[in-house]
Amino acid sequence: MLLVFFALAMQTSTPKAGIANFDEYWKKRAEEAKEASREAYEPNPEKVAEHFNYEVHKSLEGGNSTRRNLGKYKGPCLATNPIDQCWRCDKNWAKNRKKLGGCALGFGRKTIGGMHGKYYRVTDPSDNDMVNPKPGTLRYGVIQDEPLWIIFAHDMAISLSEELMVASNKTIDGRGANVHIYNGAQITLQFVRNVIIHGIHIHGAKAGNGGMIRDSVDHYGFRSRSDGDGISIFGSTDIWIDHISMSNCEDGLIDAVMGSNAITISNCHFTKHNDVMLLGASDSYSGDSVMQITVAFNHFGRGLVQRMPRVRWGFVHVVNNDYTHWEMYAIGGSQHPTIISQGNRFIAPSDPACKETFM
Ligand SMILES: *[C@@H]1O[C@H](CO)[C@@H](O)[C@H](O)[C@H]1NC(C)=O
Ligand SMILES: *[C@@H]1O[C@H](CO)[C@@H](O)[C@H](O)[C@H]1NC(C)=O
Repeated sequence: MLLVFFALAMQTSTPKAGIANFDEYWKKRAEEAKEASREAYEPNPEKVAEHFNYEVHKSLEGGNSTRRNLGKYKGPCLATNPIDQCWRCDKNWAKNRKKLGGCALGFGRKTIGGMHGKYYRVTDPSDNDMVNPKPGTLRYGVIQDEPLWIIFAHDMAISLSEELMVASNKTIDGRGANVHIYNGAQITLQFVRNVIIHGIHIHGAKAGNGGMIRDSVDHYGFRSRSDGDGISIFGSTDIWIDHISMSNCEDGLIDAVMGSNAITISNCHFTKHNDVMLLGASDSYSGDSVMQITVAFNHFGRGLVQRMPRVRWGFVHVVNNDYTHWEMYAIGGSQHPTIISQGNRFIAPSDPACKETFM
């Protein structure tokens, strides 16, 4: 009896957020994900941060100043940082979409998404069948096994009925269309590797009720309620989130937890939200000490309260972000994380209690 109890206790301490039945399939994926995270771990993370800074300096060469112009700009296309300079302002970008796959810098720099795969066009904004999604929907594309570069046929607003379970080796590329993922469930990257999410709007994410949800061509299972994050990165490696506008989700805008690693979050615009970015959710989960994450060139804007980011355990390079609003604090950490904050601009609110960056 005691033994049975012990076994159950062990099981509840295994990470299984959302997975109601931690079956053989999920056990295997969790194992593979752990291995991927270990493999991506940089024993000298300072080198990666230095290389990032070197790329920034290089991109400023030829200018007269190392200061960035952070004012409002309405002129022709400008690419002001080395990530954007890699792809942006190319008149033929639509013919060279996959070039983006080589543009990530920082800890997520090896993320190529679906660069070596086919294109998949989302033509249908509906999201009605969680187990057998309709071809043409976003959900049908993201669960495929093969690498895919997912694009959108036209402007669309997609309200996810339940968590969108994105599989490995995918790019979601919203360029050329105005794509909103809104007022529905979250995007979940769970035990996956190599995903780019680029150029979409995510707002109003809510907790999903859970239920039977397909996560790959060969598997679906029962999932419990989802948190209502914008993007949940759970035990996943090589993830690049770039040019995403996010606001007003029920839980975090972006959470990276359970040993997720090799992540870059860049060029995003965050507004109207309380818990913005949580990197490591648990004081007791030391497995998060592998986490190595770059947060760069983002605008933390109007109506934000805290966690930009809030870090536990890991190593986070917070560089060249623009903080124009916060109501509690900007950057925070606990459980001896390493946070390197460089080249950020902080405009503190007038409230005297919000003047400092807490560490
Ligand atoms: C640098 O400054 C010089 C003198 O003010 C100016 O003529 C030149 O155009 C500037 N170069 C750039 C790239 O801004
Ligand atoms: C993703 O792509 C890589 C490289 O092609 C491949 O080795 C790996 O098995 C793929 N991952 C999945 C889960 O399909």
